[in-house]
Amino acid sequence: MRLRPILSPIPGVLLLHASAAAATAAAQVDRSQFVNPFIGSEGPVAGTGFGGGDIFVGGARPFGVVKVGIDSTAVDWSTAVLNGGWTPDGNVTAISMMHEHGTGGNPKYGIIPQMPLTSVAAPVNVLDNTTYSQPRIGNDTATVGYYKTHLKSGVIVELSASRHAGIMQYSFPKGEKHVLVDVSHYLPGSPGGADGQFYVGGEIQIEGDGKAYSGYGTYVGGWNNGAPFTVFFHGEFSETPDHAQIFSGVNTDPMPRYQNQADGGVSMPTFAYGNTTSKATSGPMNHRVGALMSWNSGPASHITSRVGISSISVEKARSYIRKEIPSWKLNDTVTDAVKEWNEDVFNKIQVPLGKSANMTNVRLLYSSLYFIHLMPSDRTGENPLWDSGEPFWDDFYTMWDIFRCTVSFYHIFQPAYYESMIRGLIDIWRYQGYLPDGRSGNWNGLVQGGSDADNMFADAYVKGMRGAINWTDGYLAMKKNAEVTPYNTFDPTDLTASTKEGRGALDDWKQLGYVSQDHNTRCISRTVEYSLNDFSLSQVAAGEMPGDRTKYLNRSANWQNIWDKDVNSLGFSGFLAPKLSDGSFNGSGYDPLYCYSCEWQSYTYEGIPWEYSFVVPHDMKTLIQFMGGAKTFESRLDMMFKPNTSVQNLGANGAGISTLMNIGNEPDFATPYLYNYINKQYKSVQQSRGLGYQYFKDAAYGIPGNSDAGAMNSWLLWQLLGIYPVVTQPVYLLSSPWFPDMNMTVSGDKTLRIKANGLDKGIYVQSVKVNGKAWKKNWVEHEDVMTNGGTIEFELGKQPIVWETGEAPPSPGHVQL
Ligand SMILES: *[C@@H]1O[C@H](CO)[C@@H](O)[C@H](O)[C@H]1NC(C)=O
Ligand SMILES: *[C@@H]1O[C@H](CO)[C@@H](O)[C@H](O)[C@H]1NC(C)=O
Ligand SMILES: *[C@@H]1O[C@H](CO)[C@@H](O)[C@H](O)[C@H]1NC(C)=O
Ligand SMILES: *[C@@H]1O[C@H](CO)[C@@H](O)[C@H](O)[C@H]1NC(C)=O
Ligand SMILES: *[C@@H]1O[C@H](CO)[C@@H](O)[C@H](O)[C@H]1NC(C)=O
Ligand SMILES: *[C@@H]1O[C@H](CO)[C@@H](O)[C@H](O)[C@H]1NC(C)=O
Ligand SMILES: *[C@@H]1O[C@H](CO)[C@@H](O)[C@H](O)[C@H]1NC(C)=O
Ligand SMILES: *[C@@H]1O[C@H](CO)[C@@H](O)[C@H](O)[C@H]1NC(C)=O
Ligand SMILES: *[C@@H]1O[C@H](CO)[C@@H](O)[C@H](O)[C@H]1NC(C)=O
Ligand SMILES: *[C@@H]1O[C@H](CO)[C@@H](O)[C@H](O)[C@H]1NC(C)=O
Ligand SMILES: *[C@@H]1O[C@H](CO)[C@@H](O)[C@H](O)[C@H]1NC(C)=O
Repeated sequence: MRLRPILSPIPGVLLLHASAAAATAAAQVDRSQFVNPFIGSEGPVAGTGFGGGDIFVGGARPFGVVKVGIDSTAVDWSTAVLNGGWTPDGNVTAISMMHEHGTGGNPKYGIIPQMPLTSVAAPVNVLDNTTYSQPRIGNDTATVGYYKTHLKSGVIVELSASRHAGIMQYSFPKGEKHVLVDVSHYLPGSPGGADGQFYVGGEIQIEGDGKAYSGYGTYVGGWNNGAPFTVFFHGEFSETPDHAQIFSGVNTDPMPRYQNQADGGVSMPTFAYGNTTSKATSGPMNHRVGALMSWNSGPASHITSRVGISSISVEKARSYIRKEIPSWKLNDTVTDAVKEWNEDVFNKIQVPLGKSANMTNVRLLYSSLYFIHLMPSDRTGENPLWDSGEPFWDDFYTMWDIFRCTVSFYHIFQPAYYESMIRGLIDIWRYQGYLPDGRSGNWNGLVQGGSDADNMFADAYVKGMRGAINWTDGYLAMKKNAEVTPYNTFDPTDLTASTKEGRGALDDWKQLGYVSQDHNTRCISRTVEYSLNDFSLSQVAAGEMPGDRTKYLNRSANWQNIWDKDVNSLGFSGFLAPKLSDGSFNGSGYDPLYCYSCEWQSYTYEGIPWEYSFVVPHDMKTLIQFMGGAKTFESRLDMMFKPNTSVQNLGANGAGISTLMNIGNEPDFATPYLYNYINKQYKSVQQSRGLGYQYFKDAAYGIPGNSDAGAMNSWLLWQLLGIYPVVTQPVYLLSSPWFPDMNMTVSGDKTLRIKANGLDKGIYVQSVKVNGKAWKKNWVEHEDVMTNGGTIEFELGKQPIVWETGEAPPSPGHVQL
């Protein structure tokens, strides 16, 4: 990682310590320098991405619309992870404006591109990226708001981003200089895959001798099976090209079910010079269209380009350049990006940075903060679908990932953005009928389990998030999920019910009180998730529609209906099990250590029943009883952490992990903290800290699985803080902080201070004070330290002891069927 010496490097910070001046001076530290934007860029095999974070690397702003970065090719489709565009080993096909961050499945976006070329002579065909894609030389450089790569052709690409625009500087070697704009470019899915995305049409027009161009592209599909969406663009160059041409060609990309023109291979383009025709439109056959700008051969030189995008119009795309990137100097935008990230994000947490600071942990902290702010995208003012005056947000990818602990972080850390997100989500329900679970490209999809926006809403509601949120509508949106079965979308990954929104298995849920194996897929994991979803409804109903509360509280206990006390595994009995619609368990071939394909068709999704059997945060009390009481519960939890126990291959979702506990994927996020429920907090510290040390590093293979829009990084953030939120409850479990002192701005303008005395002696909690008073419980409530700020002071040491004598964390959903 390259450090940018804009402000005082670390030694300067030494001067600052607990003094009145400290806060002011501390704010001047450029904390962005502690971000390693490559954490998650590789998997367990160095130099390759599989099993890693699928991260985006490039220029971005907090929750910005634009994420400018390279798109790359797949070395091997069976292990390809093109989702964020950037891969360690692929060749560069373009620099494009929109990306996802950290997602699995087939890619979405990688659109509105440019590609610098040093030759366009045969065999280069501008419609065939294999003829011009570029290997990279050496390692890429990235810092917050800045990215640089060196192409084999000799071109050095540097870039940065504002919220709706990007700036690219191309340093060309001596010779020909071209920039290709292929409107039909996008990040492809694996060949033949049902959920790849495709280009469906567009237009490009050259303006003013090729110094500028504008148009739009329309794209469809991708992992979320999205409908076509259109992005308008306006691009311009610092130097007028000597030649500007537009081109078009037959669209031969093999789109499933529409591949009539795909058999002849990639087509050749038809060119028209800018002086004869300045516009190419895809027309009735959805032709591919693009432009090629060329500068006469000459000495090495820079060409800079700025590109704005909009869902509304070319005019708007152009206006973003004027407003957000007024300078042609790349570094002006970089400086502006750094400033925004520091003010909006990094400066809100202060930890000691002096000589004794563990800088690895400092980097983990600020890098994790960075990665949780790349998605979703704040598209307020960019809603092409309806006009309501409400905020508009996209790229929830997905609630299934971020409901567990990411949104709780937004709540305390970014309440203004969070309130805006919730309003935006409610507006989606108002105008499109359902809250999304996943959403991207203005389209709901996919739903992997429950309707998990319900959990986000409950979490926000019980912690007092109000502002301009219309909770009457918020609750009605949740109720739609709980009561109305969505139309079947006949998604090839699961033809049985909707994967787009809502709860596909709701008919079973309402009639049987569980999701049955013979009517529905993912019967176990969906029963678990629908239970928590209904608990969420009961939480919001308590304030918004009290008459509904008991109904949903009752339904939140439905997981108990599929608890089979006769299933045994590894010496433990009682597991969630597949149940048929006639009310009998189907023991045939059932083993809670396996989920077989572990995908859409299985009885559990991306995890084994052993894991899902711990995921009942609203009623741990009943769960502990079902598992045989505190002692058995404890040894069963211990079993989750025993190495070499896992027999199920979870593919990329469990790469390099041999315990049943899989920190590489979301369902188990809360599991290491569950010892708090039997007042053995020291074991939560031991297990969660163990996972933190083993799997989270300031390194390319620095997270144990997909970042999933920052979900994985948010798990580490809570671990570093020493607290963990219980989703849908105003409760935080205490663990053990990694920093001796930390001030964090919460609830907009309050301060949460977390101190850990004796960190040098050990990680185990000896005692705790909250707001200066001795604390006997291993949990705190939102009101205690978040609403108006507060202090948690840990006394740490090397003895693992039972220090807590207060009541265990609550089970507000305690219902016994
Ligand atoms: C390269 O271009 C071809 C033809 O348009 C397309 O089918 C393929 O998906 C592209 N590959 C990549 C990695 O972008
Ligand atoms: C990248 O390009 C190099 C040289 O053209 C080629 O040998 C290699 O196979 C390409 N790799 C990928 C993943 O496309
Ligand atoms: C690139 O990074 C890797 C790992 O971080 C390192 O081993 C290698 O030496 C670097 N290569 C160059 C050319 O700097
Ligand atoms: C248009 O420009 C091209 C390239 O500069 C030139 O070769 C061609 O003669 C021009 N055509 C007309 C009609 O001016
Ligand atoms: C931007 O600034 C960095 C140093 O802060 C420098 O290395 C780089 O060359 C600059 N880039 C441009 C395009 O000016
Ligand atoms: C946290 O704030 C307190 C009170 O202002 C201050 O004394 C302390 O130094 C701060 N700690 C850090 C790490 O900034
Ligand atoms: C810093 O913390 C890491 C854990 O993130 C630990 O592995 C390392 O030993 C610590 N370094 C020092 C110098 O204490
Ligand atoms: C909430 O929105 C509904 C219409 O969607 C409206 O009738 C109601 O007055 C709003 N409530 C508040 C408090 O604004
Ligand atoms: C019982 O479970 C087995 C294994 O999953 C499955 O093959 C079978 O179809 C199930 N029986 C019924 C009636 O669904
Ligand atoms: C909730 O369940 C209890 C016990 O089964 C039952 O008595 C009660 O009627 C149920 N309430 C609702 C609203 O369904
Ligand atoms: C787990 O298995 C690996 C490889 O078989 C072995 O090296 C390691 O010692 C085992 N660990 C434990 C705790 O049994």
